[in-house]
Amino acid sequence: MNFEPHNLLVTGGAGFIGANFVRHWLYTAGHGKVVVLDALTYAGNPENLASLAGDPRYAFVRGDICDEGLVREVFERHQIDTVVHFAAESHVDRSILGPDEFIRTNVVGTHSLLKAAKRAWLDGKGVAAHRFHHVSTDEVYGSLGAEDPPFHEATPYAPNSPYSASKAGSDHLVRAYHETYGLKTTVTNCSNNYGPFQFPEKLIPLIIINILHGKPLPVYGDGLQVRDWLHVADHCAAIGLALTRGAPGEVYNIGGDGETTNIHIVHSLCSLVDEHLARNAELRTAFPMSPAATGGKSQQLVEHVRDRLGHDRRYAIDFRKAARTLGYAPSRDLQTGLAETLNWYLIHEAWWRPLLGDSYAKWIDKNYSPSRLPSMPPTAAAPAILPSVPPPSEPVPGR
Ligand code: NAD
Ligand code: DAU
Repeated sequence: MNFEPHNLLVTGGAGFIGANFVRHWLYTAGHGKVVVLDALTYAGNPENLASLAGDPRYAFVRGDICDEGLVREVFERHQIDTVVHFAAESHVDRSILGPDEFIRTNVVGTHSLLKAAKRAWLDGKGVAAHRFHHVSTDEVYGSLGAEDPPFHEATPYAPNSPYSASKAGSDHLVRAYHETYGLKTTVTNCSNNYGPFQFPEKLIPLIIINILHGKPLPVYGDGLQVRDWLHVADHCAAIGLALTRGAPGEVYNIGGDGETTNIHIVHSLCSLVDEHLARNAELRTAFPMSPAATGGKSQQLVEHVRDRLGHDRRYAIDFRKAARTLGYAPSRDLQTGLAETLNWYLIHEAWWRPLLGDSYAKWIDKNYSPSRLPSMPPTAAAPAILPSVPPPSEPVPGR
């Protein structure tokens, strides 16, 4: 039977996927009230939700999911019957340099939410119709070899980074609250998201912004690591389906049918930016340091740097269960999604420019400076998995 959420608590709703989900839910899925609980860490940005200001179906609470008193109060005040839990420390590189915050938010924070949900929905009078949806990652399954079959829901957990270990811990707690107490939970484990509003520490926005500024494009190791790329809009649609059609206690893997190497992503973005600048004089004026502004090629910026510690070689997702039981199917191929995403970043400089301040510069310095290995040989030309670039779906307006 389908579940109909009424009052949703969306944790981490000011982050990349959370903000896309809140807008997706209110504008397309369309029912219920959404309360966002977000601590506004470096990754949380009120601008991501600015278009919802004044919408009576939406409320924002700034706070920490580890604050049990606050979480309990939000449940009571807003009569929450549904949790969609995004809040997390999400960047693998940051987890390598500082794991503590990942354990606190991802493990302790998830437990704080589970306790509040149990108290509100199961203890005392209870709320029979409820859902706790936990947003997790394919990284909990570890790393695949080139010929291995993709991750499926029964693949044993083998997390390799502090980030993925903390997500694995949270997944196990969610499972335990279902098995032990009967909490109606669903979990989605998905692949690498990309699209609008992604903080420029992650590969795709980092590369776009570095190309525009003529800065080095840091490729870890040989760049032949494989990820499955999932457009954030498809991920949000999948979460909506899991919430309303998913069965309590079930786990669903969500993929984008977009397996490719990192170096291919980087080369594709280089070609896309070069084509945009070749066509558009305003962009050449706006980004004079980008190689294509002066007739050069962005690929000359590629720098192979020391590999990420414990770097997973390949992720791939078998999402047949979600297709069969939820009706999920990704709507965008990677080529279209990358072109749209680049276009979004070109149009929304006013969104990303303020993010490149002191704390961002410190992060870039901390993560990249010691790891440069200028002596590494350049990678052989990557196989052209993506065909040549299509025209962008929207024109880039004057700036
Ligand atoms: P993000 O880093 O962009 O956003 C995280 C959000 O959580 C931010 O708004 C931040 O302020 C908030 N937050 C962090 N700590 C908090 C705390 N203690 N209390 C309240 N709010 C807090 O992350 P994202 O990329 O949008 O990822 C969202 C979720 O999806 C995460 O759980 C992540 O593990 C999972 N996931 C992400 C991807 C991906 O490719 N980005 C893929 C699979 C799964
Ligand atoms: O697979 C799902 C996961 O995808 C999510 O659980 C994480 O929250 C999300 O951050 C993402 O993790 P990755 O580590 O795969 O994403 P990231 O964008 O950091 O890196 C993608 C690939 O690109 C990875 O193989 C590392 C590589 N990389 C990344 C950066 C930032 C580089 O080569 N250079 C870089 O500078």
